[in-house]
Amino acid sequence: MTKGIIISGGWGTRLRPLTCTIPKPLIPIVNKPVIERQILLLRSAGVTEIILAVSVMADVLKNFFKDGKDFGVKIQYTDEKVPMGTAGAIKLAEDFLKDDNFFMLNGDVILNFDFNQMLKIHEKCKGIGLIASKVVEDPSRYGVLIVDNAGRINKFFEKDEYLPPGGKYVPMPINAGVYLLEPDIFKYIEPAKKVSIERDVFPKLANEGNLYNYPILGIWKDIGKPEELLEGNIQLMEEILQGLKGQQRNIIDESLDVDGKALIYPPVTIGKNVIIRKKCEIGPNVIIGDNVYIGDNTKIKETLIYDKAYISKNVKIEKAIISDNCVINDDVELKGNNQNLVILASYVEVLENVSLFAPSNGSITVCHHETIREDIGFF
Ligand code: GDD
Ligand code: MG
Repeated sequence: MTKGIIISGGWGTRLRPLTCTIPKPLIPIVNKPVIERQILLLRSAGVTEIILAVSVMADVLKNFFKDGKDFGVKIQYTDEKVPMGTAGAIKLAEDFLKDDNFFMLNGDVILNFDFNQMLKIHEKCKGIGLIASKVVEDPSRYGVLIVDNAGRINKFFEKDEYLPPGGKYVPMPINAGVYLLEPDIFKYIEPAKKVSIERDVFPKLANEGNLYNYPILGIWKDIGKPEELLEGNIQLMEEILQGLKGQQRNIIDESLDVDGKALIYPPVTIGKNVIIRKKCEIGPNVIIGDNVYIGDNTKIKETLIYDKAYISKNVKIEKAIISDNCVINDDVELKGNNQNLVILASYVEVLENVSLFAPSNGSITVCHHETIREDIGFF
């Protein structure tokens, strides 16, 4: 039986301060943790046994996913004392994975494609590895694949190892961080050593003609940076809506308590037990978690709001990420721009009348449990 391993042992430094309190694998994507979405995709391809290669905040993750029963799968965990690299991390799960081919996923990518189809293609190619790929405009931040007409990967270069001809990057297939691997892969990974699958293993497999390419359809996004996190959430929300029957334009839980005089501009996602008071304007491109309160006459667009946020009246929010348990008082204004966001980590309070405006050269980030008393940014 095909099993799955999700590697997610990194610190998520580029997503700080959000990841100071929420481990990167639990960062919500349209109100579900990023690796819960991956687990559900694996399950829909018939994968029921999954091992999570986690190290940072491992206890928080174990407590969330437990034995996997609530998610319809069986979940185990590796015991990685120090980061062993992307290949070293799966080597620790060799016993669990040695009997059949298996999916390996980077735990920080948003995806929405058919894993079953990938399995079928792998069975045809008969390589040791099949790499899911996506063509992107700027491949410089990713592993890149040089692919022949038969779908074989002739060369694999990890980011920073590839020099484009003439020094100019053009759109090309990049490593999407999802692989189907045969247990033979373990022969290429030395035990008890830090080994990178991208730098130490894939280039060898490519040279031997044992690595194939699987171009994916639909959304793909690495949530490495906050702007990508906001974009990825919005794109996935759109894809989910397209997949729903009828002309549904929002994803709204039936528990929503909304005043008839509030306006909702699609697309919007709203979780459980949310209260929206009168004359609010919510949307477009807003995702609100569970147990959130939004007071009278508040306007929110292009924003993610995690669980248990309290947003008072006459507040304006645009291009922001507001983590769990934040309190935003009356007449506050939070405004990001195209490149930069206003990012509040868990339990931040913004006092009355304060404005935070992201400048054009950087996001405004506020650490967890801080209270903001004065304006920040350019006006
Ligand atoms: N358990 C464990 N141990 N996990 C690890 C370790 C480790 O030592 N190192 C990295 N990971 C996990 C990270 O938590 C993340 O989920 C995943 O491996 C990828 O690591 P990143 O640090 O996010 O790498 P990246 O995004 O710069 O590049 C990787 O992903 C790109 C696609 O998003 C590479 O695989 C690129 O080739 C690829 O294009
Ligand atoms: Mg990444």
